Amino acid sequence: MKSGEKNVIKMPDSTDSIKGDSEIPEVSPPEIKVLKFLASLRSGKVKESEVKVQGLNEREVSSAVSWLEKKRLINVTRLELVFYELTQEGKRFLKDGLPEERAFKLAREKGNIPISSLILSLGEKDGRIAVAQLAKLGMKPIKGEISATGKESVEEVFLKRHEFLSSVAGAVPTDKELLEHFRKREDVILEKKRYARLIELTDLGRIVSERTEAGDSISVLTTEILQTAGWKGKPFRRYDLNAPVERAYSASLHPITYLIEKVRRIFLDLGFTEMEGHYIESSGWNMDALFIPQDHPAREMQDTFYLDSENGIPLENPEVLDIFKKTHEKGIPGYTGWGYSWDPKKARELLLRTHTTVSTIRYLYHHKESPQAAFSVEKVFRHESVDWKHLAELHQIEGTYYGKDANLSTLLWLMKEFYSRLGFKDLKFVPSYYPYTEPSLDVIVNINGKEMELGGSGVFRPEVTRPLGLKEPVVAWGLGLERLAMIYYGFEDIRDIYQSDVDWLRTFTLKY
Ligand code: PHE
Repeated sequence: MKSGEKNVIKMPDSTDSIKGDSEIPEVSPPEIKVLKFLASLRSGKVKESEVKVQGLNEREVSSAVSWLEKKRLINVTRLELVFYELTQEGKRFLKDGLPEERAFKLAREKGNIPISSLILSLGEKDGRIAVAQLAKLGMKPIKGEISATGKESVEEVFLKRHEFLSSVAGAVPTDKELLEHFRKREDVILEKKRYARLIELTDLGRIVSERTEAGDSISVLTTEILQTAGWKGKPFRRYDLNAPVERAYSASLHPITYLIEKVRRIFLDLGFTEMEGHYIESSGWNMDALFIPQDHPAREMQDTFYLDSENGIPLENPEVLDIFKKTHEKGIPGYTGWGYSWDPKKARELLLRTHTTVSTIRYLYHHKESPQAAFSVEKVFRHESVDWKHLAELHQIEGTYYGKDANLSTLLWLMKEFYSRLGFKDLKFVPSYYPYTEPSLDVIVNINGKEMELGGSGVFRPEVTRPLGLKEPVVAWGLGLERLAMIYYGFEDIRDIYQSDVDWLRTFTLKY
């Protein structure tokens, strides 16, 4: 033996990796008892339910087994046991006889029996079952009657079925054919599962069981031990600082909330004011204020959730109604308008806001002095068919900048700045169309070679701003938050974000 090896216990080959005491886990008294029990067995594997240790109840054994597995002192194989039980109906059949058996007895009395009288004596339900089962046994009804003549051999079948039912409770049936028969029948037997653990000592477990004396160490200090000085001369059980424990998860923000906070932080840092709006809006502010013509397809039922409201509501700030009417019908100096007859009733209709641009335009109406910079991250609703990149309820990152120097490059800069603060550098802008902006741009981000449209933006048309008394240009944007979340958290399907999968919620990591 080389020097220095003296205190190292000799390990079997398979535990070569265990170098010394430090890698031998601490075991509690119940654990060592279970280990010793396992070591005393001749056969390797044993069911947990067969572990009988003095002073330990089932629960204590079970807990010791779990710990020993974590400490790699035992190997555990999980077994799934399928067994069967009788249903209420099954129990009744066992007691009173199976419907087919009872029917056969009735038929045998007179040689044959009409189905109608069968149903009369067995009842509708059992009668039907009996007819079906007897037909399968070669006794199809002829002219509405079932004949028992010459069919005595079926009694053997009934006997077997009866025996099966009386043996089935809690057991694993051996007769596979009958099992199949009753599994196919409705409401007779019930399949259940039981789980069992098969356990076996590992090499390390054997070593630990040999090295440790059962009950020779003190793991709990009781009043009695203190009073009688019973601890004297006995070793204390060491604290095992390496004992494996269940991971505890602290409370945390929902990933969507987290992202919203991040987005808010960026705009607040840029000096923007946060706007707050409402889920329910008037069409007037949601659409007309934004110069969306009243026959625009986006106003149709299939895109918008309208609320049932007889005459709608009188619009707040009714003075804007005349403004909308004039602008839509005749335009403003230098611009023609849409040239149709504008209907004030339509402006009163209530809806679930389809975009948060409604908050922007109302905000600007109430804050006419420039400059203004405002944003919101709020929910909008769309009558969309939901698919991998569309939701009917989603958050929009809305924002606007109003000022002398608001122009296309201000907008581009703001978009780039915002996304780059989130970690996305590869942006693309493509021309787009919104009735309220000119020019209009959609923002597209390139993520690992895949392009994803994140939202729209543009410079408000003078038909939107001037009639409401806004004297300077306005840039605005409305971007999808969930689309961002897809990229941010690596989702292939936008719907998964709201699955609230607990494992994911506990362990999600940011991709950017
Ligand atoms: N409101 C638009 C939408 O819902 C986005 C947008 C906002 C476009 C502001 C231009 C200006 O997609």
